[in-house]
Amino acid sequence: MGPNPLWLLEDLLRDVELRPGMRVLDLGCGLGMTSVFLAREYDVQVVAADHWIPAAANQRRFDEAGLGGRVQAVDAEARALPFQQGEFDAIVSIGTYHYFGTDDLYLGYVTRFLKPHGILAIASLASTVEARELGGLPEHVRAIAGPEALSFHTAEWWRFHWEESRHVAVTAVRSQPVSPHRSPGS
Ligand SMILES: C[S@@+](CC[C@H](N)C(=O)[O-])C[C@H]1O[C@@H](n2cnc3c(N)ncnc32)[C@H](O)[C@@H]1O
Repeated sequence: MGPNPLWLLEDLLRDVELRPGMRVLDLGCGLGMTSVFLAREYDVQVVAADHWIPAAANQRRFDEAGLGGRVQAVDAEARALPFQQGEFDAIVSIGTYHYFGTDDLYLGYVTRFLKPHGILAIASLASTVEARELGGLPEHVRAIAGPEALSFHTAEWWRFHWEESRHVAVTAVRSQPVSPHRSPGS
């Protein structure tokens, strides 16, 4: 659903060690393409959670792909997750985290669902300069993304946001290279 989710996920996981059999939450999985990729390429057990896409439709797709036993679709709103404390080895979120994760208190909430020393890895829409530093959202950005673009932040913004919370030890924060799939001039 978002731009180039598999490419973003594979690039993100250069910084993350997922081991076979780990229990991984794909938070905001959309149509579940990333969930299928995680199960197939990393041999992990995936819980594919989304708020807009019905879990029944996603589960049908996972079953048809022969992954019914390894990818479980769940209807979930990110701020009211239907999981147990310490249930996951890793939480992965592609193109989604900015919808809720900019809330100062959200990191403390979502990390409850991780085991001790669990992994939180996100790739999300971001910016190279804070809109605040520019005096506001540039009009060309507002024209495409609307006020949602206020939730796009720089890598350094995210580093500070997470490090200062002390809920996590930050191991990597970076801009991902521009997708190789973009056509010239786009
Ligand atoms: C741009 S799509 C990305 C989907 C998928 N990860 C991908 O990369 O193709 C954003 C997804 O975020 C989900 N989402 C947005 N807000 C959410 C929330 N509060 N709780 C759970 N999911 C949410 C939407 O349901 C949507 O599927």
